[in-house]
Amino acid sequence: MRAAAPTTVGQLIRHGERRFKRARLAYGHGLPSARDEAAYLTLHALRLPLVQWPTARRVSAIDAARVLALHERRIRERLPAAYLTREAWLGQQRFYVDERVLVPRSYIAEYLCDATVPYLPRTRQVRYALDLCTGSACLAVLLAKRYTGALVDAADLSPEALDVAAINVRRHRLTRRVRLVKSNYFSALRGLCYDLIISNPPYVRGAVMRALPREYRREPALALAAGRDGLDAVRVILAQAARHLNPGGVLVVECGHARELVERAWPRVPFIWLETSGGDDCVFLLTRDELTSHGLGRAQGVRRSRVLSRGRLRG
Ligand SMILES: C[S@@+](CC[C@H](N)C(=O)[O-])C[C@H]1O[C@@H](n2cnc3c(N)ncnc32)[C@H](O)[C@@H]1O
Repeated sequence: MRAAAPTTVGQLIRHGERRFKRARLAYGHGLPSARDEAAYLTLHALRLPLVQWPTARRVSAIDAARVLALHERRIRERLPAAYLTREAWLGQQRFYVDERVLVPRSYIAEYLCDATVPYLPRTRQVRYALDLCTGSACLAVLLAKRYTGALVDAADLSPEALDVAAINVRRHRLTRRVRLVKSNYFSALRGLCYDLIISNPPYVRGAVMRALPREYRREPALALAAGRDGLDAVRVILAQAARHLNPGGVLVVECGHARELVERAWPRVPFIWLETSGGDDCVFLLTRDELTSHGLGRAQGVRRSRVLSRGRLRG
């Protein structure tokens, strides 16, 4: 006997979850599980708010068919949910996304959404900021919203990504304060200095790139691949950032779970590791002074790195 067709929001979510699990989909594009993705796609298709799941609500046959069709696309096309809905959420903000950009999920957002964290400069200290490797401009937008008096440059090598970034900057009404720049890392920013530079650059190493689940292969390879050890972009940023920071300026970089690798590669640099929901091995912070005075290749003692745990410093 065939199972009865799902007729409530809760049944549709459970039905989607079971199908996603059976199809062994890959997650991690902002939503961590089959259940979350099934709920998100169901609520999106029904045009319901995402904050609560009205599981008992009955759904018309036409609406249920729309939900099931979206679930089916998620399975058949192996597209991250965000590419199907053309939206992604970071913090409380909604962004337009499509296959031209990485689906937003940077841990740096956790710090930009919390104005009370120490180590990031205070609002009034940042007049010029840079989001290097901006993609959809999600972090540039959060940066501009966090630092309300700042002018933000948002740089990326990909013209396609910059087209998406332009949509988001426009939608968030930030065209006066966020400037999009096509740049190979810092190359088009010669002579420009910032009080704060953030970057979520590509950091996937070669072996991982070759084994990526299908969903991740739908994202631009340029947004992910960073050479054999995944540090190609970090190397360029560490080598060049100090030249683009004002005195007192700060650099914040996401590098995947690469803390060990980074500390082995630059044993003399006193990285501060920011605690994030992904752990304390993904995002580091350095001041301009630390970059210059503990510069690469300069003779000095090995410094222990530190972890910043939302307000206090651990050795
Ligand atoms: C991991 S994605 C991050 C996108 C966005 N900042 C976010 O957090 O969702 C990395 C971005 O770096 C860009 N990129 C790759 N190589 C670059 C380079 N040499 N110079 C500038 N941007 C680059 C890619 O186009 C991609 O948009």
